[in-house]
Amino acid sequence: MIIAVDGPTASGKGTIAKALARHFGLPHLDTGLLYRAVGYQVALYGGDPNDPSEALSATNFPNELLGHPDLRSEATGGLASRVSVHPGVRRALLQRQQAFAGQPGGAVLDGRDIGTVIAPNADAKLFVTASVEARAKRRWQEMRDRGESHTLLEIEDDLRRRDERDQNRETAPLTVAPDAFVLDTTALDKDASIAAAIDAVLEAKGKQ
Ligand code: DC
Repeated sequence: MIIAVDGPTASGKGTIAKALARHFGLPHLDTGLLYRAVGYQVALYGGDPNDPSEALSATNFPNELLGHPDLRSEATGGLASRVSVHPGVRRALLQRQQAFAGQPGGAVLDGRDIGTVIAPNADAKLFVTASVEARAKRRWQEMRDRGESHTLLEIEDDLRRRDERDQNRETAPLTVAPDAFVLDTTALDKDASIAAAIDAVLEAKGKQ
């Protein structure tokens, strides 16, 4: 069973994808980490994330980089959003994601274009979303716990900018697949969001 989980930054899709993987006993890939690794590597060598060829050459990042804690920072998220607009970068990361999705038994992948581009035949597709205010508040709490200090307003502005870039890029923009179940977590806590996601997957499976 392949489960595709898409949605904007800080919507809760990562937490939900991880919980689904645990519940259904499937491996999980956070595809945002791949774009974060590319963005991080470009910056590491003093490159420009807006330059398509510099971004492309960073797609050969070493696998160990995926475990680096700096990949989770807001700054790296911004770099990831920039490198992810380049079609060449998306093509270079496509095969890796499809190989993961194609494992015997299936997998859970979360990102922006899993249900639309990477795994259009996924057995269940979820589009996880929440209001920008709710997402900013969650991200702010997460960052505070990690010791990164940003104001709520800074985070909200950054989320709006990233939403705008992710939704308006030409290649594989963030869009809701027509056959996706939209899960709005604005008014749901973590447990309720996970329970709703499990129900949605079971329902999608039941329809097949
Ligand atoms: O989910 P995230 O915040 O870790 O993603 C970081 C950036 O990577 C995001 O702004 C857009 C890009 N991304 C993408 O374009 N496609 C994906 N499947 C996952 C992430």
